[in-house]
Amino acid sequence: MMILPRNSDGCPYLLLAPMEGVGDRAFRKAMASIGGFDEGVQDFLRVPANAHIKSLATRYQSNEITPFPLAAQLMGSDISLMAEMTREMEARGAPRVDLNCGCPSNTVTGKGAGSSLLKDPNHLYTIAKAMVDAVSIPVTAKLRSGFEDTSLFKENLLAAQESGIQYLTLHPRTKVDGYGPPARWDLIAEAKSFLRIPVVGNGDILTVADACKMLQNTGCDALMIGRGSIINPFLFHEIKAHFSGKPYVPQWEQLLAYFTTYMAETPVHLPERTKINRMKQLLGFFCKGTPALLDRRQEMLQTSDEEVGAFFKSVRPYLENGWR
Ligand SMILES: Cc1cc2nc3c(=O)[nH]c(=O)nc-3n(C[C@H](O)[C@H](O)[C@H](O)COP(=O)(O)O)c2cc1C
Repeated sequence: MMILPRNSDGCPYLLLAPMEGVGDRAFRKAMASIGGFDEGVQDFLRVPANAHIKSLATRYQSNEITPFPLAAQLMGSDISLMAEMTREMEARGAPRVDLNCGCPSNTVTGKGAGSSLLKDPNHLYTIAKAMVDAVSIPVTAKLRSGFEDTSLFKENLLAAQESGIQYLTLHPRTKVDGYGPPARWDLIAEAKSFLRIPVVGNGDILTVADACKMLQNTGCDALMIGRGSIINPFLFHEIKAHFSGKPYVPQWEQLLAYFTTYMAETPVHLPERTKINRMKQLLGFFCKGTPALLDRRQEMLQTSDEEVGAFFKSVRPYLENGWR
């Protein structure tokens, strides 16, 4: 069984969560410029019934955030295509392939993939097992706690375990919950009580104190953080510093590199307006964690600039003065 290693200070393995839309390649590259996490996970690659596997697979680049490993995540419900795509990911150098059992989107769930897999533990088992049997690299799964409710919670997690996956990540909200109610960390503790395989705890970790509380209250083996890392891109370093006992002092240059990397890695073909809106979204998250900026957020994000570089130039003084 795979072990999720702790570092020499005892800090558990830290994963950067997959976040389709917000947490795309540009964001992962930006996060890699700051570092602190141990592994990234690409947002889901949808494998539809008519998928052309070879061309779809090129969307995954194993060296995207080198030196950090990047796992691939697949979402689909066709057993043989999912197995074939898992093989393709292995051929492309993926260190691990994750099965998405959580995406709440109706366009996805309508076709029996993502969180819809949580309605049928047998199907979940069959897909996960086909993926496990297809490759020699680790296969894992990321699950919500259920579809409408948690009545199949235990069955789903056991089905995933029995398929031969190496570990699972639990985001303890149902599909129906969306992102609304607080993540039910008690379910992570429950999962730990009956599973043999390691469990990665996920959901609502925004601070070092949250990370410690999650570890203490659930006994989970590793942590995955999504939105908390957009609000505070230094969070992974801060968690590591808590374990090492050495203070972590973020530098302005790192933050500047984070935003400029994000800008540089945003696809060039996008209209400037879209690039500006994406930048605003990232800045909006960042402001949430920075009281001095939150107060001036409206003023800061208002712009008549036509080009993303000019826009960033106008927000840069706000950031430089208020980021700490
Ligand atoms: C915008 C957005 C996109 C997401 N995309 C994915 C995805 O592609 N695959 C996945 O497994 N989870 C996805 N998630 C769920 C996150 O990985 C994570 O489980 C969830 O946000 C809870 O963790 P957090 O509170 O640390 O953000 C997404 C979440 C958000 C907010």
